[in-house]
Amino acid sequence: QSDIVITIDGPAGAGKSTVAKRVAEQLGIIYIDTGAMYRALTLKALREDIDLNNEDELAHLAHRTEIELEKIDGEDKVLLDEEDVTEEIRSQKVSNYVSVVAKVSSVREELVNLQQEMASNKGVIMDGRDIGTVVLPDADLKIFLTASVEERARRRYEELKEKGKDVEFDELKDEILRRDRLDQERKVAPLKKAEDAIELDSTNLTVEEVLRQVIKLCQEEL
Ligand code: C5P
Repeated sequence: QSDIVITIDGPAGAGKSTVAKRVAEQLGIIYIDTGAMYRALTLKALREDIDLNNEDELAHLAHRTEIELEKIDGEDKVLLDEEDVTEEIRSQKVSNYVSVVAKVSSVREELVNLQQEMASNKGVIMDGRDIGTVVLPDADLKIFLTASVEERARRRYEELKEKGKDVEFDELKDEILRRDRLDQERKVAPLKKAEDAIELDSTNLTVEEVLRQVIKLCQEEL
């Protein structure tokens, strides 16, 4: 078992989680989906009807919430105060609001601490927006995974259609663009490539091709 630490950052829908999961399996390390943590907190804020512009309330919410990522029967599960919310955090509503919650500095502080704790003293691959820049700046390998917005929207569209969900391509593309803009323009820990990250553009690559490149980069590190 390896104790390599890998980060994957990039815009929404670039394929970070798909690749990260596969890398984790191949290397026998843990996968940590930090976006799921921001999503879980956003779900709770929406359920409790919290004013998303009220930073104090959001800070308090983050403080009194328990978020866990667990592998149950081989599946990655997201637990919010011990409730399985793995499916619910992928809803359009959560996607529409998550970047508003994620820009609050006290919320980030709380979740970044938790993420660092989850990653301490083990082999991990963690994906998100600020992992290489803020959460794990000393990682062994940093990837910045991108793809054109058209391609990212197309992949998300296919994925949702396969699940039988009724979605508009243009709506998906708008949501992705809006979320990227909020994530790039926020003051605290904005989405950006770490100086020492390797950029991979997956627009014209299959999952297998991206995976092969990342594994090759890992092997150079091991
Ligand atoms: O990765 P995913 O698309 O599920 O992330 C949802 C949102 O959570 C992002 O658009 C961003 O606003 C926030 N996020 C973040 N920092 C991370 C991971 C996610 O701000 N490390």
